[in-house]
Amino acid sequence: MRIDIISCVPQLLQSPLSHSIILRAQDKGLVEIVIHDLRDFSSNKQRQIDDYPYGGGAGMVMMVEPLARAVRYLQAQRQYEEVIFLTPDGEKFDQKMANTLSLHQNLMLIAGHYKGVDQRARDLLVTKEISIGDYVLSGGELPALVLTDALVRLLPGVLGDESSALFDSFQDDLLDAPIFTRPASFEGHEVPEVLLSGHQAKINDWRYEQALEKTRQLRPDLLEGDEA
Ligand code: ADE
Repeated sequence: MRIDIISCVPQLLQSPLSHSIILRAQDKGLVEIVIHDLRDFSSNKQRQIDDYPYGGGAGMVMMVEPLARAVRYLQAQRQYEEVIFLTPDGEKFDQKMANTLSLHQNLMLIAGHYKGVDQRARDLLVTKEISIGDYVLSGGELPALVLTDALVRLLPGVLGDESSALFDSFQDDLLDAPIFTRPASFEGHEVPEVLLSGHQAKINDWRYEQALEKTRQLRPDLLEGDEA
């Protein structure tokens, strides 16, 4: 998979993509993540990428031209299944969307600024608008990173134990069961006996029951429609 991210603050993106699982995925050649500075696509010496809004109002607006140049430059090199604009008024991101997007070969992400992108860029260049939640961040960079992380960990071979992404919270509309590691006893609080039993079928049953109970308590909305 290849993910291209267009941003006017590319420094915000670098560090989170240069560590841990995402770095290893890139090193193993399982994903290529390329960051593009929108200012490189500006047509003037000042590398300007935004301007005052027509009709007045607070804040600057990202101009359509540099964005169009950036998107088309990339599209001339490969075919993108989606050109995604991160925005709080987009479709709400969830695990199902992550699963679907993780099957694509080439994705382009545009990190913009809320109320700050010329509508024509959204209309003409973007194929999908995604929000990571009902709150407003100061830019699309963190949402682009959230999306990238959620997709990359789903790619085959990225996680050590191939199956572990499949058992994540939300993959089966259940939250994860509680997990424990050593010591078996901490200040009088014991690890549940069954986990020490070595009996895998019993452990699986216990985990399923715990996941169901936790979901009932914390996120009953995930179970809606499942129960008679
Ligand atoms: N840009 C600013 N806030 C955002 C959000 N919640 N989701 C996606 N992009 C955003």
